[in-house]
Amino acid sequence: MNTLSLMDPALRKLMPRSSKLAPTKGRESAAKADGCASPSGSSALQPPQLPYAYDALKPQISPETMHYHFDKHYLGYVAKVNTLVAGTEYASMPLEEMIRQAAWKRKRSLQTNAAQVWNHAFFWDSLSPVKDRGPDLVLAEAIAKTFGSVGKFREKFVERGMAHVGSGWLWLAWHSERGLMIRTTENAIPVWLASGRIPLLVCDLWEHAYYLDWKNDRAGWLDAFVTRLANWELASKQNSAAVNGTAAWQYSA
Ligand code: FE2
Repeated sequence: MNTLSLMDPALRKLMPRSSKLAPTKGRESAAKADGCASPSGSSALQPPQLPYAYDALKPQISPETMHYHFDKHYLGYVAKVNTLVAGTEYASMPLEEMIRQAAWKRKRSLQTNAAQVWNHAFFWDSLSPVKDRGPDLVLAEAIAKTFGSVGKFREKFVERGMAHVGSGWLWLAWHSERGLMIRTTENAIPVWLASGRIPLLVCDLWEHAYYLDWKNDRAGWLDAFVTRLANWELASKQNSAAVNGTAAWQYSA
């Protein structure tokens, strides 16, 4: 079966032949060192390495938070997925298809853990140590048209994240009919699981993402993300891919 046939047209755009997270020798070595390879050593998810140093995002994200978040939480999801899929039909699936199939067949544990791997990988790329970089002209104009200005978008992004109760994810996404939108999803659900949506940025709303640094100040965390940490280069590339119907980010490790 053609794996892409299982996906809606918007998601197909997320399935390029290559991406910046393509497997590397280093990633494979890191995964095996963390015990994430499958017992057979084949078809296991390989976690990407952080695209920056553990201390590159301080003071908004401390090295302690990054170590707990990446080394414990994220690699824990990767290890759990590899345990769940070992010896099954899911083992050889691209992660996006694994998530869709697990959702369709109500494999809740696999769906949750696989989605957390995808969401976190996109989240690591949604962060950047490069300061004072904004969206490119095309995305800036789209943001201004939708939200009024980049500043108003930031305010609405924080408001939407504050209105979300419990754990989840806060997205800037593009919809095939509605254009740009801010959405939250519950727990581990990727925004693209709903038809027609392509993510531009995501912020982690789980407390493990910010509590060591921001305690109960979720608004402070959200403002830091959208003002100081957001990777606008990724968002601009995603927006361009969405608008032009070309390939965008995928989990390929
Ligand atoms: Fe997280």
